[in-house]
Amino acid sequence: MTRRITKAVFPVAGVGSRFLPATKASPKEMLPVVDTPLSQYAVEEAAAAGITDMIFVTGRNKRAIEDHFDSVPELDAALQSKGRADLLELIHGVLPAGCRCIYIRQAQPLGLGHAVLCAQPVVGEEPFAVLLADDLMDGTPPATAQIAACFERERCSILAVEDVPREQTASYGIVSPLSGAQAGDEMLPIGNIVEKPAPEQAPSTLGVVGRYVLTPAIFPLLAAVKPGSGGEIQLTDAISALLGRERVLAMKLRSRRYDCGTRLGYLKATVELGLKHPEVGTGFADYLRRRGA
Ligand code: G1P
Repeated sequence: MTRRITKAVFPVAGVGSRFLPATKASPKEMLPVVDTPLSQYAVEEAAAAGITDMIFVTGRNKRAIEDHFDSVPELDAALQSKGRADLLELIHGVLPAGCRCIYIRQAQPLGLGHAVLCAQPVVGEEPFAVLLADDLMDGTPPATAQIAACFERERCSILAVEDVPREQTASYGIVSPLSGAQAGDEMLPIGNIVEKPAPEQAPSTLGVVGRYVLTPAIFPLLAAVKPGSGGEIQLTDAISALLGRERVLAMKLRSRRYDCGTRLGYLKATVELGLKHPEVGTGFADYLRRRGA
């Protein structure tokens, strides 16, 4: 099995119902945090891990994502004639150098597991990363680089996890460590995983956040799983089947996660990344201080 991960799958076909009305006609992955769409943060994070093939599993109403990563000759010409070399550099950097985008349609909204399965013809027999763009990760090294480095050592599937409040377990895939593993460890072998359990049934409070490295053994399992939680083909259910065949690790990342699929998480991300922004950060901090935030 190859040591280095070069392919990332971005499932972006979901309708984003938690963010209506903003997502009625435009993709949730194009929501900007400060000035950059969520999909671009995810692609930059993957590129920082050495990934070159950005595989989007896309669907209806998602054209804006494809357009975003294309070059735009008329915009180039307009910026050129205005002498805006700074903006030209900015838009040319939207797709990191050396990377390419590949788009696959998920023709039916059958769930996250089905979306990942749609990428199989492009991924082939290689381990690959999965990034859910609405989980915005902030930290150094970038989240995917942390998991990819772990994969290079461990050579098995790895799921990013974090401790979530027990009342929120029904929003996550929840893992429980193999018996004997210490919950405080950065990396834990997983014994069990279940999608969106009710708080009283959750085997732990370790929730999967939107970063995965998976071995290609996941594909036949995805093809075989039956619809699960919400009537959808769940990635979690295929990972559960994978546990019977291969070691799977949970990894606590040294990153801060913002759940930009929810309004509150999105607002938190906007404030925190706004405060760090090189151009507007100082002015924004002054504004917040003056209004007593
Ligand atoms: C998906 C996965 C879930 C995971 C979550 C992380 O759920 O099915 O296991 O914990 O992403 O964001 P969704 O948020 O798409 O409902």
